[in-house]
Amino acid sequence: MKDIDKSKPVLVTGATGYVAGWLVKRLLEEGITVHAAVRTPENKEKVAHLDQIAANAPGSIKYFKSDLLEEGSYKEAMENCELVFHTASPFTSNYKDPQKELIDPALKGTRNVLETANQVESVKRVVVTSSCAAIYTDATDVQNTPKGILTEDIWNTTASLDYQPYSYSKTVAEKAAWEIAEKQSRWDLVTINPSLVMGPPLNSKSNTSESFTILKQIGDGSLKSGAPKMGFGLVDVRDVADAHFQAGFVPSAEGRYITSAHNTNMFEMTQTLRPKYGENYPIPKSVVPKWLLMLVGPMVNKNFSRQFIRKNVGVEWKADNSKIQRDLGINFRPMQETMEDSFQVLVDNKVI
Ligand SMILES: NC(=O)c1ccc[n+]([C@@H]2O[C@H](COP(=O)([O-])OP(=O)(O)OC[C@H]3O[C@@H](n4cnc5c(N)ncnc54)[C@H](OP(=O)(O)O)[C@@H]3O)[C@@H](O)[C@H]2O)c1
Repeated sequence: MKDIDKSKPVLVTGATGYVAGWLVKRLLEEGITVHAAVRTPENKEKVAHLDQIAANAPGSIKYFKSDLLEEGSYKEAMENCELVFHTASPFTSNYKDPQKELIDPALKGTRNVLETANQVESVKRVVVTSSCAAIYTDATDVQNTPKGILTEDIWNTTASLDYQPYSYSKTVAEKAAWEIAEKQSRWDLVTINPSLVMGPPLNSKSNTSESFTILKQIGDGSLKSGAPKMGFGLVDVRDVADAHFQAGFVPSAEGRYITSAHNTNMFEMTQTLRPKYGENYPIPKSVVPKWLLMLVGPMVNKNFSRQFIRKNVGVEWKADNSKIQRDLGINFRPMQETMEDSFQVLVDNKVI
């Protein structure tokens, strides 16, 4: 049980990120001082949206230059903070060397931030942004669970450096976080484990998140010949930010929290955009059959290997999201609202 003093600064690592942006906004609107640890505070395009929010909110923001791979580089930003949100971690399918580009920053970065928490006496709670990817790799993993549904008790045992290395990076990083947390008692650890995050980006100019890449593909015609029924979970970025906020400030928050609103699939997700945008944008109209994907998928997209298609397309995905609703009072937005609000930002900013 940890009571956090809202008059003390709060650290957000990776504050320039898609998910972190909405969390920083919420903190600033609550009048909190945010210590924003970012790689390139001098890059105005990356921080302009945060400065603008801070200018119109009661809270204030202060930037610190930090890198996941540089030991000790979060120390200054963490001084005097009781609460640390560790969101920074690469989320991309566009990598050449998965060890260097995904696993090292996720794992070494988590150790770096949490070992710094061990040195900074003011820290009482650390909230780590993990992922449902630390719980499962493929939709077939869901069917192999004891009750056919993902819960917080389940860990990903199928991802590796060679197969779905992003999921592997999130699994090893979250495991390391629990190992470090369990060796001490001054601060407690809470993890937020979102499924695929969608929802309006606060910065649509320099967005690196894979969420944004997927969203753009729905509107730029990449899926005009159809979308697969690839099972996954979906959640709104604003609900993920609220989940982090509650995980930080609700004294009784504990353990892992599956943060997923909808058990859905790629085709169903795109269809929420048909009523409003179907006439003017190339929103997919039909389901791509699994056999066709098996044939052409690996040639079109390196992430669509036959193994991945076999284990995800046409396979139902299910997660139990009752713990976060019960403990942290999160009410999830409907999928239609999430998707329409996301797409409208791309339209307004002429991204598509
Ligand atoms: N989006 C989703 O669907 C989803 C789902 C589940 C979990 N998550 C998790 O949510 C978190 C945020 O992801 P996101 O979707 O918001 O992606 P994002 O916009 O790309 O944010 C990733 C953040 O990590 C920072 N980062 C990457 N490598 C770094 C390094 N070496 N040193 C310091 N910072 C570094 C990036 O900094 P720069 O701005 O400098 O590049 C960026 O701020 C990640 O932990 C991700 O695994 C995301």
